[in-house]
Amino acid sequence: MNSFFTKIISKITGLELNDRLGNDWDGISTLGLFIRMGIWATRGLLVRWRFKGTKGLFLVGKGVTIRQAHYIQTGKNFIAQDHCEINGLSQKGLTFGDKVTIGSYAIIRPTNLYGGEAGLGLKVGNNSSIGPYGYIGCSGYIEIGDNVMISPRVSIYSENHNFEDSERPMIEQGVTRSFVKIEDDCWIAANSILLAGVTVGKGSIVAAGAVVTKDVPPFSIVAGNPAQVIKSRKA
Ligand SMILES: CC(C)(COP(=O)(O)OP(=O)(O)OC[C@H]1O[C@@H](n2cnc3c(N)ncnc32)[C@H](O)[C@@H]1OP(=O)(O)O)[C@@H](O)C(=O)NCCC(=O)NCCS
Repeated sequence: MNSFFTKIISKITGLELNDRLGNDWDGISTLGLFIRMGIWATRGLLVRWRFKGTKGLFLVGKGVTIRQAHYIQTGKNFIAQDHCEINGLSQKGLTFGDKVTIGSYAIIRPTNLYGGEAGLGLKVGNNSSIGPYGYIGCSGYIEIGDNVMISPRVSIYSENHNFEDSERPMIEQGVTRSFVKIEDDCWIAANSILLAGVTVGKGSIVAAGAVVTKDVPPFSIVAGNPAQVIKSRKA
């Protein structure tokens, strides 16, 4: 029963599910997943026509907010989990590669809701995910490579408020935007914060709770606040 449903889901979605749905799963659990995917795909059908472009499977959970979808392009097998919020309005738009998942309650916001110039946007490569409760403030452009795992509650900021003039309210002094890049094959662990202007080099790990204020060299592990290199992944 289980393998029957697994085969059907794999055939429809093109996903290889054998490694996901273990043999110990009972048929009812697999059927439940099958039905849930059907509901998510139906919700996807209701919104995907508004996008700049979509491909293949497009799954949308409950309570998802998608604004200005005509600035958003997705690759194959895009998943927006329950209650996430994706705002498209941006100068360069939002581009997602194949097999990208946006976790529950994550927020992607290129532009302030309270006015000012539209932000720049976001690019996410193939097989990368943004974890639950994440915040991606991509006003200064954020580029996330392929095979990047972003754990829960990670915040990435690509702008700072200007504060040079102590006689004027900071809210009137504008912002400075800076590009943030996460290269391929990185793991950005839970509760970490990446500040404007940093590049996380290929193959690196940002440890849980780290605050990244400077570039991270490729294949290194950084931890702490401010984040420091604690190890290299290369011998
Ligand atoms: C970085 C991490 C992967 C461990 O890497 P590791 O190479 O095995 O590191 P170690 O456990 O050997 O620790 C090395 C040193 O770094 C310190 N360290 C490890 N993780 C740290 C962290 N998150 N913050 C600060 N210091 C940390 C250790 O205390 C140790 O210090 P010491 O040498 O003074 O004793 C792990 O600590 C971590 O942060 N995991 C993230 C978990 C997570 O977010 N999971 C979500 C999955 S979706």
